[in-house]
Amino acid sequence: MPVSATLAANDAIARRRAQGLPVVPLGFGEAGLPVHPLLAKALSDAAGFAGYGPVAGIPALRDAAAGYWSRRGLPTEASQVVAAPGSKPLLWAILGARGGGVALPRPSWVSYAAQSAMHGLPVVRVRSVGGVPDPVELDAVAREGRLSTVVVTLPDNPTGRLAPPPVIRELCEVAERHDLLIVSDEIYRDLTEMELLSPASVVPHRVVVTSGLSKSLALGGWRLGVARFGDDALRDAVIDMASEVWSAPAQPVQHAAALAFSEPPALVERVAQSRNLHLRVGAAVAALFDTPPPDGAFYLYPHVPGFDTDRQVAEHLLASNGVVVLPGSEFGDDPAACRIRVATSLLYGDTDAQKLAALTSDTPESLPWIAAHLATLAAALHPGEFAHK
Ligand SMILES: Cc1ncc(COP(=O)(O)O)c(C=O)c1O
Repeated sequence: MPVSATLAANDAIARRRAQGLPVVPLGFGEAGLPVHPLLAKALSDAAGFAGYGPVAGIPALRDAAAGYWSRRGLPTEASQVVAAPGSKPLLWAILGARGGGVALPRPSWVSYAAQSAMHGLPVVRVRSVGGVPDPVELDAVAREGRLSTVVVTLPDNPTGRLAPPPVIRELCEVAERHDLLIVSDEIYRDLTEMELLSPASVVPHRVVVTSGLSKSLALGGWRLGVARFGDDALRDAVIDMASEVWSAPAQPVQHAAALAFSEPPALVERVAQSRNLHLRVGAAVAALFDTPPPDGAFYLYPHVPGFDTDRQVAEHLLASNGVVVLPGSEFGDDPAACRIRVATSLLYGDTDAQKLAALTSDTPESLPWIAAHLATLAAALHPGEFAHK
């Protein structure tokens, strides 16, 4: 199994920096923001909790996550929640426990296909609208009888688009018709201002929602994800897998996560500031690529003309200007579509002081260290450059 494409892009950034070359880091989808002090304190206060604890997570965390979803219009009991070291292992366990064919949006986040392959599950990629397979095409594929699960990403990585409620309703109808499990990856849910309809509001019994702390609170390295199950048998199967693979999430992190999911005002404010920052800088970068601003998350998915393949686009941007992006084909897209995934969340500065200034600025795109990245990018994207491949 090759190293995840997103981690490989991160390596490319480190290599150029070591050589003293300029870098515009648009490759890695990490929410580059400081840990909120409330959470840092909660984590250190909980350092003494050294026991494994329950496989599905400590009651305080399962309770808090249930409250988080209930406040978003998805009434949830603590017993429906399973916590894990990241939503990634949860997705892996869900796909494996369910088994059968998996329909993925084209394009979609790299790990769904890789995880399906690890389980030996057949994957069908379906043209997508903002992270949701086109319902008509999905219906046609499902009629062939090979599908068991469909994955959706709301809002989407890599496109930064959010599928609108009518598309979700149609998808749910198709899932009902063909008895499909819907895995709804809502890890970017709090990073959009648009209306988000979760499939779990429409057909709750056949949906697993996943989320976590990696994006909205920028705690990817703390490794904490949660899943909300509509079906007890699938939940129990995932807990069985968890007990044999990771035992339980790190207990001190669970205590801090319980605080995070209880959403005290200071953290609500931090998430709001982060959302604002991602959307604002995302819009500034989108203008340079001449592509619409993101609906949510911190991704753009522009088409770049003048090249034969998306890899040529990525190589050109990296070699001539140190602009690191990922080709759309890494996400299962057609290389000839010449689309690239642009992640804008590592532009906020090198120090915590710069990142905090960006979080509280009304015009973060004009802070000198962000404006400098935008200027390098603007030079890289000058139309004259693209004319000469
Ligand atoms: C769509 C999507 N789902 C899940 C994850 C991983 O989340 P976690 O850190 O909870 O494992 C990512 C992170 O890149 C992502 O983009």
